[in-house]
Amino acid sequence: MPETPETVDTDASHRLGFGCSNLGSDLSYRASCSLIETAFDAGFRYFDVAPSYGHGQAERILGDVLQGVRDEVTLVTKVGIAHPRRVNALLALKRAAAPIKRLLPGLWSHGAQQTRRATAPGGQFGAKDITASIEMSLTRLRTASIDWLLLHEVRPNELTAESLLVLQQAVAIGHVRGLGLGTSVHDTQTTLVQYPGIFGLVQMNHFWGAFSWHPGETPLLVTHRAIRDGMAIVNEEGFRHSLEVQPAYAILLDAIKSNVIAADLLLAAALQRRVARVLVGSSRPDRVRQFMHVARSDSWSSLAAQLNSALESYRKAITERHETAFEKA
Ligand SMILES: NC(=O)c1ccc[n+]([C@@H]2O[C@H](COP(=O)([O-])OP(=O)(O)OC[C@H]3O[C@@H](n4cnc5c(N)ncnc54)[C@H](OP(=O)(O)O)[C@@H]3O)[C@@H](O)[C@H]2O)c1
Repeated sequence: MPETPETVDTDASHRLGFGCSNLGSDLSYRASCSLIETAFDAGFRYFDVAPSYGHGQAERILGDVLQGVRDEVTLVTKVGIAHPRRVNALLALKRAAAPIKRLLPGLWSHGAQQTRRATAPGGQFGAKDITASIEMSLTRLRTASIDWLLLHEVRPNELTAESLLVLQQAVAIGHVRGLGLGTSVHDTQTTLVQYPGIFGLVQMNHFWGAFSWHPGETPLLVTHRAIRDGMAIVNEEGFRHSLEVQPAYAILLDAIKSNVIAADLLLAAALQRRVARVLVGSSRPDRVRQFMHVARSDSWSSLAAQLNSALESYRKAITERHETAFEKA
């Protein structure tokens, strides 16, 4: 059985999960396989993937690399965003458009998002879509059972009695061990109220989830974007100012001025929150090893605690300011 809140490990390094969204898109097949080997050798035992990740290549890469150690790892995949079509044409287009990525990154990321939506549409929660998606994931991941199957970017009105039945049957026959949600906080909350007792894990943005979710209860909370969004927050003028006015934060302020230290501190801070897993991702093997090094070390603990407290106050101040502005409007 997958873990429950009672069985969640207190060792921070066991609570790190590897996010596989970069595999196969930014990296070649060979480099992607090598990155997964690096993650496994560094100690990662929890891997989060989706049929749509890496232009549809990520599940296959993960299955190819981890097939010999399947019993040692937790595999999480998703349903709801289609496996991309026309992958070869897409990769050729991406190679041809590479200069745009270097010269016009804004245009590149807008184009990439549009292309992703066109080739891998979301909202695929019909009973037949779910059955086909699970079968393909089992094949690509080279496994008899998926540990957690998450409904990817689901909205509650996209679920039907028939689709829920198919999901529960997949659990009953052992193709899936546990069901979860990988969507926005609002859609997570609404879905849990509408369909109680079905989902054992919820996955959401760290800065919404870890700061607003009530931990320690079912479902388990897994968070992502702790580093990506965290880097944006610690570079915000408002956040920097909130540290500058408090002398106790002088060392923290100095530390986050370095991007490398800021990323390490954000991860250490995320792991201090009471969440079941923190997902991290990188296309760089040195960063993958560094994630595990941070999780295993105590060196960051005091500054990370300060960062958590500063982030919590900043988030509260921003929420109050927006609420006041909203009330006045
Ligand atoms: N709906 C869902 O369920 C959902 C949504 C979003 C994400 N996820 C999952 O969560 C995983 C992690 O999400 P995420 O990729 O946003 O996580 P993240 O680990 O917060 O951010 C990864 C990004 O941060 C950069 N980064 C990492 N270390 C860094 C450092 N030391 N300095 C500067 N930049 C650094 C990486 O760039 P480099 O590659 O250059 O290192 C990468 O672009 C995804 O792979 C996916 O599995 C799930």
